[in-house]
Amino acid sequence: MTDRYSVIGRPINHTKSPLIHGLFAEVTRQALEYGAIEGDLDGFEAQVLGFREGGGKGMNITAPFKLRAFELADARSERATLAKASNALKFEHGKVYAENFDGIGLLRDIEHNLQVPLAGRNVLVLGAGGAVRGALLPFLAAGPARLVIANRDQAKAQALAAEVKDERVQVVSYEALAGQRFDLVVNATSASLTGELPPVPVDVFATAQLAYELAYGKGLTPFLALAREAAVARLADGVGMLVEQAAEAFEWWRGVRPETRPVIDRLTVPLQ
Ligand code: ATR
Repeated sequence: MTDRYSVIGRPINHTKSPLIHGLFAEVTRQALEYGAIEGDLDGFEAQVLGFREGGGKGMNITAPFKLRAFELADARSERATLAKASNALKFEHGKVYAENFDGIGLLRDIEHNLQVPLAGRNVLVLGAGGAVRGALLPFLAAGPARLVIANRDQAKAQALAAEVKDERVQVVSYEALAGQRFDLVVNATSASLTGELPPVPVDVFATAQLAYELAYGKGLTPFLALAREAAVARLADGVGMLVEQAAEAFEWWRGVRPETRPVIDRLTVPLQ
C-alpha cells in the first residue's frame, strides 16, 4: 500500500502542502499520497488517530491545532517542547512523535536562500506567540549577537525569555525600539493577517539588510511596505519558510531531502 500523509487544519482549503509535498515526491521518486483534511474542532484527536489507523505515516498540522497535536503525541522534540506546538507528526513503532519545523524552516530560508547569516547579527523579532516560540531555539543556535523581542503584551515576551534563559535575548517595548538599529527584522506577529501594522518605529530598518514577513501570500503587507519605504535591501514573505519546513518534514518522514529552490520559485508571488 502507498504510504499516506496529510495536512490537517481549519480552514484547510488554501493549503499549499499537498502541492509542495507532491512536487517533493515527484523529484525524489518517492511513492506516497499526500492529502488535506478539514479538522474538526471537537474531534481533532480522533481524526489524527483515525488517519494513523488507516495506514497514515505522518501529518502536518496547521492552525488552530498545533497545540493539540503537541499534546496528543507520545514523544516530543526539544523544539516542539519550547514552542508548545507541533507542525509535524510521525507515526512509527506504535507511537506518535511530534516535531516543530517552523523555526528551522524560517532560519534555513534566511541563511541559506536569502544569504543572511545570523552569526554576530542584531536581530529583532516582533511578536511573542506560537511563531516566535517555534523560532527561538533555531535562531539562538545560529549565533546572533543579540535577539530582541518586542511584543504589545510585554509580560508574555518576558515569560518566554525566562523560559529560554539566554543572555542574548532581550525584551523591549515597541516604544523603546525608537533609535535602535538591527541587521534583520522579523515580523512574527499575526498583525498582517488582518492588514495591520505592529507599532514598530521605522528607525529599526535604518541599517537592516532584510525584513522578513512570516505571513505568506499577503503581498506587500504594511510591515513590508514600511521596510521598503526605509529602503531595506531585501524584503521576504514566508513562502521560503513554508517550503523549507515542508522539506524538513519530508526528510524526517522519508529520509531524503528534496531540493527546495524550484518549489519556492514556483510558489513565489512578486511583492507589490
Ligand atoms: P502565532 O501562532 O501566529 O504566533 P499567536 O500565538 O496568537 O499567533 O500570537 C500572535 C502574536 O501576534 C502575538 O505576539 C500578538 O501580540 P500580543 O501578544 O501583544 O497580543 C501579535 N499581534 C497580533 N496582532 C497584532 C497587532 N495588530 N500589532 C502587534 N502585534 C500583534
